[in-house]
Amino acid sequence: MTTSDQLRTSRKGRVEDKVAIITGAASGLGRADALRLGEEGARLILTDIDSDAGAEVAKACGGEFVAQDVGDEASWTQLIDSTMASHGRLDILVNNAGIAPIANIEATTTDVWRDVMRVHVDSTFFGCRAALPAMTRGGGGSIINMSSVAGLVGISPYFAYSAAKGAIRAMTKSIAAHCRAEKNGVRCNSVHPGSISTPMVHNALKTLGGFDMMDQPDPEASRIALGIGEPLDVANMVLFLSSAESKHVNGAELVIDNGDTVDQVKR
Ligand SMILES: NC(=O)c1ccc[n+]([C@@H]2O[C@H](COP(=O)([O-])OP(=O)(O)OC[C@H]3O[C@@H](n4cnc5c(N)ncnc54)[C@H](O)[C@@H]3O)[C@@H](O)[C@H]2O)c1
Repeated sequence: MTTSDQLRTSRKGRVEDKVAIITGAASGLGRADALRLGEEGARLILTDIDSDAGAEVAKACGGEFVAQDVGDEASWTQLIDSTMASHGRLDILVNNAGIAPIANIEATTTDVWRDVMRVHVDSTFFGCRAALPAMTRGGGGSIINMSSVAGLVGISPYFAYSAAKGAIRAMTKSIAAHCRAEKNGVRCNSVHPGSISTPMVHNALKTLGGFDMMDQPDPEASRIALGIGEPLDVANMVLFLSSAESKHVNGAELVIDNGDTVDQVKR
């Protein structure tokens, strides 16, 4: 029986017993990824700087919560070591934690620039570098780096953020090529959501457009009317990339924006 046949006939979860680390799991997309992977049988280690909300998500999906600032290099060694000590393997890493300060090139201070680079670029580098030996020891794994459409096109109010997301896109491809050459069984892909309904986007709508999504009589109807995606749209992609269904997908950039970045017609 081929691997594909086994996948079709398996009644187990799509990521049954796989050990997954998800960063920034206390809110928004990370939370949705945790719940979705949990539903499909993953053993979850969730991290965030927001310990209260992170612990709640961990409780909801039967995972464990670890307080972590992803920009702290030492935290990665500790996290991977403790994961290997408790679970003996690491199959999935979702580098998801992020911040999105609103500032164009002229308004971006050096402090904001460094902060954004630390939380997005340093963390993705530290996380991938720390995870690779652990995944290699287990025969392979899947690294999923959360980029954005901001890493593909020009979004002026998000200067530092766009630069960081572009770096994540390029890092992902370099890592994918390295893993292919090493034949270590690790795949590395980037995910590029457009606007998805999370606190990060609600904050942007309020700051840039004076529109408070959560104050609307029917936030779900407003989301659909504005063409904004829901966290599950991203979580389903993360699940696919985490599972063996994507075993031939490496170095890809998966865009989740309902065609927003390819549509040249002004609407
Ligand atoms: N929501 C969108 O439309 C959208 C689109 C494209 C990309 N993204 C990316 O998806 C990821 C998740 O965004 P979201 O929309 O869920 O935002 P969110 O603000 O709802 O969640 C971000 C989480 O990251 C955590 N975090 C922030 N700094 C951290 C740090 N230093 N260490 C650990 N955790 C930290 C926060 O506490 C929070 O729980 C981000 O990387 C974001 O850039 C989001």
